[in-house]
Formats: sequence, structure tokens, C-alpha cells
Amino acid sequence: MPTIGIDAIALAVPEGYLDLADLAAARGVPAGKYVEGLGVSRMSVARQHEDPVALAATAARRVFATAGIDPSTIGLCVVGTETAVDHSKPVAAYLHRLLGLPQQCRVFEAKHACFGGTAGLLAALDWIAAGSARGKKALIVCTDIARYGLSTPGEPTQGAGAVALLVSENPRLLALEVGVTGSYAQDVNDFWRPLYSKEAVVDGHHSVQCYLDALAGAYKGWQDASTATGNTEKLARRCYHVPYGKMAKKAHRHVMQLEGASEAEADASYAAEVASSLRLPSQVGNIYTGSLYLALASLLEAEAGELEGKRIGLFSYGSGCCAEYFAGRVVKGAGAFADSLQLAEPLKDRRKYTFAEYEQIRLRDEEGDKRPVNGEAHELPEGAVAFVGVDADRRVYIA
Ligand code: HMG
Repeated sequence: MPTIGIDAIALAVPEGYLDLADLAAARGVPAGKYVEGLGVSRMSVARQHEDPVALAATAARRVFATAGIDPSTIGLCVVGTETAVDHSKPVAAYLHRLLGLPQQCRVFEAKHACFGGTAGLLAALDWIAAGSARGKKALIVCTDIARYGLSTPGEPTQGAGAVALLVSENPRLLALEVGVTGSYAQDVNDFWRPLYSKEAVVDGHHSVQCYLDALAGAYKGWQDASTATGNTEKLARRCYHVPYGKMAKKAHRHVMQLEGASEAEADASYAAEVASSLRLPSQVGNIYTGSLYLALASLLEAEAGELEGKRIGLFSYGSGCCAEYFAGRVVKGAGAFADSLQLAEPLKDRRKYTFAEYEQIRLRDEEGDKRPVNGEAHELPEGAVAFVGVDADRRVYIA
């Protein structure tokens, strides 16, 4: 039986970021509250031309280029997003043209808060396992702009970015345990975004509890499913959905305590099993659907070589809520391949915005989806795609 899983990963982030110490100074709170208290150092700030389609297309073009994959081999393209640009036309349809995907390809968008990308990934695994792929690969792209109201408690947990995942047989990074997952769902009002709003509404402290409840339920479901297959192998590393780094720490402590560990033991295992997956998220902030996969990219960038042959756990949470726990094995050769993907490259050479620039970007954002194509020059980095405005209600992109 061939293995199935994540063959390659690539990231896309906006060109600029806000330092959380600068945000703290402007909001009159100690920087420690954001940097240590929440575990975030920088948050990506998307400008008008860096919309969810542009970020998704940029990440996907990068994954094709770095992994050496021809877009004509894609038979399924699912975009997970909760900040889509249209109520009807999916981001995946824009990608179809921007990426040159073949016409014999299923494209659609999946929405369930931060869970949409995982829903796409699980569908892709089943699509391949069922034989429907007939040798083709799947492209799953998670893309979002996390935006809360100015001066709200959610403001330091914003971010923006996209993660593209190639899913195939005989993957070069992570072979997933297909069909061995733990699901959890409940109708809760922890976080949502009404149709009239670009900004999310959140019951922050309640959302933390909802996340932890969902984690406990999904983890137990996964343990039962895994044990039923006879697999009780310990996890070497664990990646969590990361709305902010401290949440992953709380999550890990919760799981370890459910397993009978003391708080000190849980925190010691956090340093060994979780910390390396939080480096990139601490530099980007919450990217909603892509957050778990940004954590996975961070882990592989840091440790893929040492982790070859080892089993790792993955927890995906989407407010509202739905969650899934699943696992996979880092494949032989993943270390050298992850190095060649240069996963962290898009974070290099970013521009640091001043607080005034951040405020200005947020104000201009309001007119963003309606602005006409006006020939504004965009100096795009190699391989990037940009949104340049609307023409008779049609969104226009340049690459
Ligand atoms: P808050 O109430 O302003 O912060 O907002 P706080 O008072 O709870 O403080 C945060 C932490 O900083 C605390 O640590 C403080 O002790 C510490 P903790 O007790 O939690 O360990 N602290 C300090 N540390 C060092 N130096 C200091 C200092 N002062 C305080 N001087 C909250 C926090 C997370 C509620 C807010 O940012 C928020 O509402 N964020 C958005 C919601 C969110 O991210 N929820 C996460 C779970 S839900 C989820 O993950 C789904 C989501 O991704 C959406 C989706 O699914 O689509 C959001």
C-alpha cells in the first residue's frame, strides 16, 4: 500500500508586519503582555493588494516551484478560508486560472472558521485513498486575513498569510494515518464574523475554553481510533492550531494533564515537543485556516531531519466549532527535502511598519474591495500575485 500525506509545503505572507511591542506602546499596555503573555512578537499586516486570493496564489506558485511539481498533475484544489472575497465564487476558481490548473480538476472552497483547510486536507486524503485521484495530486491552500477591531483584546492576535499543501501518494514530508482521526463538534458562540463585517466578533476567554474542550474530545477520539488499530506509539512532537503561541502552550498542558502529567512535567514536555513549532507563528500571528500548517512548517523547518521516522500529532480547531486530532510520520529523506523547500524564506526581508502605517493600512482597508483598477504600480516580489482592484464588479489580479 502506498503512503498518503503531505508531499510539500510553501508559505506566503504579506510584505510587512507590525512589531507587537509597538502595538503595546500605542495601546498603553506592557509589551510583556503581548510578547510573553500571548507569545506573539510580530503580526503580518496585509495591504489592499495582498488579499486572500493573492496570498493563496503566491503560496501555491511557490509550492509548485520549490517542490518541482507541474500544475497539470493537480486533480483537486480546495481552498480553506474564512475571509473569502465573494459569497459565491470560490477562491479556488481564481486559483484555477492564476495557477494554470488543468480543466479536469475539481475546485471548491471550504469554510468552517479555522477548520476549513483541514476539512480540505481530510477530503483530499479520502479522495486519494478511495482511488478517485487516479494518479493525480491534490492542492490544498489555507488563506486568511485575521482581523479584529482596533483597540479590542483580539487586536494583538491578528495576522495574515497562506499555506499551500501538496497532497499525494508517497509524500516526501509527512505520511498521514488516513482514517485514524478523532472528531469533535458543538454549536458554540466563541468567534464568528457576521456577513456585514470584515472584522471577527469574539468572546475571547470563552473561545479559549471552547478550544480546550474540543481538544479533549478530539484527542480522546483519536486515542481510541489509534488504539483500535493496534498503534499505541508515542508522539514525538505535537502541533496545535496557533491563534497565539500561549494558546498552544495551554493546549499542550491540557492534553498532558489529561494523560496524568503534573503541570511541571507538562511544561517540560512542551519545551521538547511543541516549542519549535511556534517560531514561525510568533513572527506572523494568527492566519486562521493556515495556523496549524504554519506550525507544522515551523517544526519541519527546524527539525525534519531529526524527526525522520517519528510520529507527530496534529490538532486542528475551528471556532463554532469543529476540531480534529490526527497523526502522521515524518518520512525518510524529509530533512534534506524540507531544507530544499526553504520554508521560512518568505519571512526574510519583510518590512517593519510603524504603528501609524498600520493604522493607515487599516483605514484604507475599508474601501479595498470596491476600488477601481487605477493602474497603481506594484513592485511584486518574484512569483507573487496581487489584487489590483475591480472592473465592472470583476476582481482583477496581476502576477
Ligand atoms: P486579554 O483578556 O486582553 O488578555 O485577551 P489576558 O488578560 O487574558 O492576558 C493574556 C495573557 O497575558 C495572560 O496569560 C496574562 O497573565 C498575561 P495566561 O493567564 O493566559 O497564561 N499577561 C502578561 N504576561 C507578561 N507580562 C505582562 C502581562 N499581562 C498579562 N505584563 C484573549 C486575551 C486571547 C482573550 C484575546 O487576545 C482574544 O480575544 N483573542 C482572540 C480570540 C482567540 O484567539 N481565541 C483563541 C481560542 S479560539 C481559536 O483559536 C479560533 C480562532 O483561531 C478563530 C477560528 O477558528 O477561526 C480565534
